[in-house]
Amino acid sequence: MINLIVACDRNRVIGKNGKLPWSIQEDWDYFLRTTAGGAMIMGKICYQEFETYAEGRELIALTRDRGYRFPHAKTAHSMKQALSLATQKPIWICGGEAIYQEAFPLADRLYLTRIDRTFDGDVYFPDWHNTFKKQISRKIMNKDGIQLEFLILGKE
Ligand SMILES: NC(=O)c1ccc[n+]([C@@H]2O[C@H](COP(=O)([O-])OP(=O)(O)OC[C@H]3O[C@@H](n4cnc5c(N)ncnc54)[C@H](OP(=O)(O)O)[C@@H]3O)[C@@H](O)[C@H]2O)c1
Repeated sequence: MINLIVACDRNRVIGKNGKLPWSIQEDWDYFLRTTAGGAMIMGKICYQEFETYAEGRELIALTRDRGYRFPHAKTAHSMKQALSLATQKPIWICGGEAIYQEAFPLADRLYLTRIDRTFDGDVYFPDWHNTFKKQISRKIMNKDGIQLEFLILGKE
C-alpha cells in the first residue's frame, strides 16, 4: 500500500520558507503516529525539516544530485528508485509539492488533515478532488479554536 500524508490549509498551503506554516501539536503527533513503522519518502527540503525525527524510522530522501548522501536516510534519485528502496510497509509519501504530484497516480490512499484557517505559504498541495474521491474515514477535532478535519480518502 502506498499512501500520501499531508496537512493543508483552506487554500491548500502546506509550507513556507522550508517549514510548516503552523505549529499544531495534535497534527504533528498524528503524523508521527500514523507513519510509524512504515517507509517514509520525502524530498530534500522535507528531509531537512524532519531529520531530527529520523531515528528508528525507514526514511528515503530524494535528490537529483548524484553526489549527495543524506546522513539519516537512504538516498534516491527518482520516485521509482525510492519505491524500490522501501522495505517497510506501508509506504508513506511525505512531500513536498512535486513529489505529491508525481505520486498521485501511484498512491492508494490520501491521509489529509484540513486545517480550517488560512496561512501565508509558498508551497501547495495539488488539487486532490478528482483523484481521491472516496471518503474512508473522517474525524473532526477543535484545538484552540481551529478546526482540524482528519480525512482518509481513497480512489474509486
Ligand atoms: N503540511 C504538510 O503536511 C507538509 C508536507 C510536506 C512538506 N511540507 C512543506 O513543504 C515544503 C517542502 O516541500 P518542497 O516541495 O518545497 O520541497 P521538497 O519536495 O521537500 O524538496 C525538493 C527537492 O527534492 C528533490 N526532488 C524532488 N523531486 C524529486 C525527484 N522526482 N527526483 C529526485 N529528487 C527530487 C530535489 O532536490 P535537489 O534540488 O537536491 O535535486 C528538490 O529540489 C516545506 O515548507 C515543508 O514544511 C508540508
